Amino acid sequence: MTQTQVATRTILAARNLSGTVAPPGDKGISHRYAMLGSLAAGVTKLTHYSSGADCHSTLACMQTMGVRVESDREKGEITIHGVGLRGLQAPQRVLDAGNSGTAIRMLSGILAAQPFASVIAGDESIARRPMARVIKPLLEMGANIGAEEGGRPPLRFSPVTSLQGITYTLPVASAQVKSAILLAGMYAQGETTVEEPQPTRDHTELALRNFGVEVRRGRQRVSVSGPVAELQPQEYRIPGDPSSAAFFLCAGAMFAGSELVLQEISLNPTRAVLLDVLRRMGAQIEILHIEDRGGELVGTIQVSGPARGRLRGTTLAGQETVALIDEIPVLSVLATVSDSGMDFQDAAELRVKESDRIVSIVHNLRAMGVECEERRDGLRVPGEQTLRGARINSFGDHRIAMAFAIAALKAQGETVIEDAECASISYPEFYDTLERIAQR
Ligand code: S3P
Repeated sequence: MTQTQVATRTILAARNLSGTVAPPGDKGISHRYAMLGSLAAGVTKLTHYSSGADCHSTLACMQTMGVRVESDREKGEITIHGVGLRGLQAPQRVLDAGNSGTAIRMLSGILAAQPFASVIAGDESIARRPMARVIKPLLEMGANIGAEEGGRPPLRFSPVTSLQGITYTLPVASAQVKSAILLAGMYAQGETTVEEPQPTRDHTELALRNFGVEVRRGRQRVSVSGPVAELQPQEYRIPGDPSSAAFFLCAGAMFAGSELVLQEISLNPTRAVLLDVLRRMGAQIEILHIEDRGGELVGTIQVSGPARGRLRGTTLAGQETVALIDEIPVLSVLATVSDSGMDFQDAAELRVKESDRIVSIVHNLRAMGVECEERRDGLRVPGEQTLRGARINSFGDHRIAMAFAIAALKAQGETVIEDAECASISYPEFYDTLERIAQR
């Protein structure tokens, strides 16, 4: 590891928060446009592309397969010279998904359909993440995939001449797996249908339509017909990332008089559930502007804590847990300042994210003096807590580092985040933004 990767950050309490924040482009949408742009017949131009390392891992994988990409990372301007659906070249080295579960799972759908062999791997965290959920349906479609024990990466793809469309019911709700199957479905003979136990984010469906693919949708069912002849290149501005905005939305909700505005945030209904939960808890949320960008809703959000009294505690379960799985680390921090705390149910998926997030949250909340209850598939965080500044173990997980940087704003004494720079996986500008808006 380099010096910067292990750097700590010290964060002090704040009196209040005020200012305007424009988080990076959405991570999930950026991955999808990078992949589809690479497979399109011509040049795709993206602006507000995620500055996070994950989305640059996807671009690097596409480059390793012969796609020419011009990238101004700071400005978020990306030009992709698409090679066409059948124009990828055999990679001469292992494809590196870095820390990105979305990259390795979604790219699997593309690699499974190619007439050449490939291997995809990632960092230590990726090596622990379950891939059987994506391998199984792709094998059913006729792919040829090898993995380490327990379906762990690296994943090895053998060449195929064709795939068959399938109807597949996901055992666990996962937008990544749904997307991998739909991407493979573009290359398959006949119809490919995915049925979901609960609706998940629909960025792939919306993006596929923009690139010219006919997508048929029911509430929890989506189909494409293959083989698709061609994708039309796009010019697209990526909406801001609601899961990155979530850190500041929750921070704003923690302080009664905050004056915080979040600009250009995706309000896609599958991603905007946090706003409903914050309203239910008594936070003041206003949408100042809203527009449609290629099927994705985008808007400006103003947030502040409750006009009087504490935030109310609440329970997340079922569909809300699925929609807010990436926001649970910061919601568990918010829970500590609510009146009755929060109960997070049906959240076993937290155990297989960038870290075991149930362990990471409970460990760090305890370090700050909060006794939570850890369960197999969730946790309960008590309310009315006084947070103590502490040394935070980020577990190398970007969302844990950022969630506890938000906790630091309410803690007595200083909080030190270890390996704080892992935040750059999704939000490299996070700490600078935090220091700019924190009033002390
Ligand atoms: C993502 C889907 C979710 C989410 C992840 C990004 C996506 O994962 O947690 O951070 O971009 O499709 P699952 O597919 O496991 O639900």
